[in-house]
Amino acid sequence: MSENNEKKVHGIVAEYESVDTLLHACRRIRDAGYKKTDAYTPFPVHGIDKALGIKPTVLPWIVLGCGITGTITALVMQIWMNSIDYPYIISGKPYVSLPAFMPVAFELTVLFSSFGAFFGMWALNGLPRFSNPLFTDPRFDRVTDDRFFLYVDASDERYEEGAVREIYEQTGGEYINTVLDDDSSEKIPKPIFMAWGLVISASVIPLLVVLKMRVTNSESPRFHIFYDMDFSPAKDAQQGSTLFADGRAMRPDVPGTVARGESNYDMDFMTGVQMDQLSAMDAPRADRLVRLSLGPIGPADDEAGDDENQNEETRDESTAAPSAGGSEEAKDTTPWLTTNPLGNSEEVLLRGQKYFGIYCSVCHGMNGGGNGLVNRRARKILSPTWIPPSSLHQDTLYKDQYPDGKLFSTISNGIRKMPGYAGQIKAKDRWAIVAYVRALQLSRNASIDSFPEEERESLLDEQKQIEQKLKEQAEAEQQATTPGQASS
Ligand code: HEC
Repeated sequence: MSENNEKKVHGIVAEYESVDTLLHACRRIRDAGYKKTDAYTPFPVHGIDKALGIKPTVLPWIVLGCGITGTITALVMQIWMNSIDYPYIISGKPYVSLPAFMPVAFELTVLFSSFGAFFGMWALNGLPRFSNPLFTDPRFDRVTDDRFFLYVDASDERYEEGAVREIYEQTGGEYINTVLDDDSSEKIPKPIFMAWGLVISASVIPLLVVLKMRVTNSESPRFHIFYDMDFSPAKDAQQGSTLFADGRAMRPDVPGTVARGESNYDMDFMTGVQMDQLSAMDAPRADRLVRLSLGPIGPADDEAGDDENQNEETRDESTAAPSAGGSEEAKDTTPWLTTNPLGNSEEVLLRGQKYFGIYCSVCHGMNGGGNGLVNRRARKILSPTWIPPSSLHQDTLYKDQYPDGKLFSTISNGIRKMPGYAGQIKAKDRWAIVAYVRALQLSRNASIDSFPEEERESLLDEQKQIEQKLKEQAEAEQQATTPGQASS
């Protein structure tokens, strides 16, 4: 104790032999009102914090605060990035989509929380610390083995060496000692400094190497850590290849390939409009017609998802088709093609019949009368929104009032409630349908004079037979509807 005067006293420590004596001493110290105390044991002793009067740590609150900060940071960051700074729709989700933001929010919550726990623990414990005066006591080493120590810090308000010593003695403290300043130098040992210096300077080397690589050129090949696709057998244009028999790397287009916007059909054929007469039309309408005509190359992209009503309006405006049932006929100034560019050979008509059967008959009926299966079904279920398909045998749809080009345009782009078929039926087949619709229309209005003379007689015979058959059918139907015979 002779050296006490020169050195600063840090506190006083006592050694105990058992947990029980230690706990007893702890309670006495606590009851005496000491706050800056600590107990050191070789293993965790339950209840010692209570015995010493140690308050629960605030670390959980720090971690909670950090966690909430992490969540908020992640959400604000994502909302800012995805909906304010660079609004970007991903997978059709709204700009601010909480479920999509969850993974990042979760990660940042965990990251901030663990930083809070890690660094919070260090800060609360006053770490890092290179030395503790307690370590100067040679007997203190046994705290890692089989001894228990109790320590009261000299900075405690009530600290008074004699009083503490007395409690220690009364409670069975075996070895009581004041804790003095550490003699050893306060300076950080040189080897540590050197190691730090080494690590820091070594960590700059990769950066310098990268920097040099960025500003200089090198003859030697790239240093590959990850190969990525650097060695994939991709070829540039005009390069040779041993892979194909013809020695060329580029493959020719699949026959029939049409590059977008480079249809080799002429535009009259694709639109049903005499394009050279278009000067009479205003530019936007012409432009739209051309765009519509590009439909068959890809699916009708700008049309497909549109709102139906809006679609209707733009369509009416663009093709200026007069309303079929409307009382006032809008003037149609479009220079429609008046003849079918495909003609009406048997081949064309058969093709038209086939495609009419596939695409049109469901609504307009096999005979074009407007009573296809879809129409019958709609009437059966009394669909309140159903617009019946037009009969194709109306005067207004005949060739003199409804040119072939216009019929072609109706099939291609649709009209009012009828959808367009440019995306599904090739232009050539649409023209074939036009030819077939003309044939259908003619079938109801042909006079016997339009047939070759030698056929007229047999045709008239046939007509009589058909009339006879229809009569029989009508009679049979009448019988079938009489009670007791409902077999169909
Ligand atoms: C999904 C049912 C449906 C199909 C399939 C359909 N149409 Fe129509 N079509 C209609 C309806 C409904 C109208 C009447 C539209 C209206 O008045 O709103 C109509 C009207 C028409 C008109 C009259 C246009 C006018 O200016 O008044 C023609 C011509 C026509 N269709 C031809 C065809 C042809 C040719 C096909 C086959 C490529 C076809 N339709 C396929 C439902 C259909």
